[in-house]
Amino acid sequence: MFNRIGDLEKKYVLEALENQFRSSKGAVFMQRLEKAFSSRFGVKYGVSCTNGTATMHSALEAMGVGIGDEVIVPPLTMSATAFSVLQTGATPIFADVDSSTYQISADSIKQRVTKNTKAIITVALYGMCPEMDDVLKICSENNLKLIEDNAENFLGTYKGNLVGTFGDAASFSFQSSKHLTSGEGGIIITNQEDLATRIRRVNSLGYAGVGASRAKISKLDIQSPDYDRHMSMGWNYRMPELCCAVALAQVERIEELVQKRVDAALKFKEVVEKSGVLVGQYTPDYCTNSYWTYAAKLDNHIDWFEFRQKFLNFGGDGFYSAWKLSYQEPMFKNRNLLNREHNLTSNSVENYQDGSCPVAENLQARLVQFKTNYWNEGEAESQAEILRKTLSYFS
Ligand SMILES: Cc1ncc(COP(=O)(O)O)c(C=O)c1O
Repeated sequence: MFNRIGDLEKKYVLEALENQFRSSKGAVFMQRLEKAFSSRFGVKYGVSCTNGTATMHSALEAMGVGIGDEVIVPPLTMSATAFSVLQTGATPIFADVDSSTYQISADSIKQRVTKNTKAIITVALYGMCPEMDDVLKICSENNLKLIEDNAENFLGTYKGNLVGTFGDAASFSFQSSKHLTSGEGGIIITNQEDLATRIRRVNSLGYAGVGASRAKISKLDIQSPDYDRHMSMGWNYRMPELCCAVALAQVERIEELVQKRVDAALKFKEVVEKSGVLVGQYTPDYCTNSYWTYAAKLDNHIDWFEFRQKFLNFGGDGFYSAWKLSYQEPMFKNRNLLNREHNLTSNSVENYQDGSCPVAENLQARLVQFKTNYWNEGEAESQAEILRKTLSYFS
């Protein structure tokens, strides 16, 4: 039996507890986690956060994005990507996706750029990644910031480089379904010292004493009556020490944790490739997919619910659909955006209508996602066998 949370995680949690949460010992695991994670990606700075939404919100605030600005995001993703934009007061503008990789399409991004556009958030969906060269070209031609939402991609590559090393910053989530987890948590990495410092301030109540690599405020400073603490407004998005202890152990085990998912996905892939019923997510030969899930598109002639029921009847584990497109969620349809609806730019009116991203709309109704987080020996293989039976039933 493979333990997702094993002896190393327990050891670090005990060590963190032994520090008694003394302020003199504060942020020990936080700093170790940030260093270990950023080094693994060959990036200079890492700022840990409460989750992989707070990471992006902090980065957008640190980049100066706010009311009247637009940020281009994909609609086929967990809506946290769009939430982070709304949280700043800016307007998320949705670009369509590629029909075979399911990733945000550079051609569609180009059509959405306006004088209000300040940034793009790409999402490395299901463990794959967008065409980063094309996206980077659009950013440099239009002077746009790029944040990579890498919540679902750890160690995937694009043309030989790790996904998460292309943008101004890249965000990762340690939520419980992710490749690495501490229950909840997140981290954002960047090579820009200024940006890292500003992100840290946004996520640490605007404290003066924190910096790009400095998560902890000095006791001497804060004891003085003359100390100016808050350089700006900010949020308290700091990741708790206990979660940092768990996440550090997970970073030290990153290869085996990712490999487990890839191994499971390849079992599904082999079965799917032989069928005419499902077409798997396309991974170009210059990319490696870290397979957060194994995603595939169901043939138009087969009913999604019937296919799922048959898979369950054969003993299948139940697969997931794609999330509803963000702009089709009730919060956008009903403009229930906690008063941020008053900040939306006029481009949102058409952009949030049905039909705005036809490729994503078609995919969303047809996608199936198989879990890849199987830890027991043989489990992924038996699920792949059940899938093979289901596929031959519909062939
Ligand atoms: C693509 C994507 N972005 C952002 C998030 C948000 O991460 P968190 O739950 O840590 O806020 C998730 C998943 O939860 C996600 O899948």
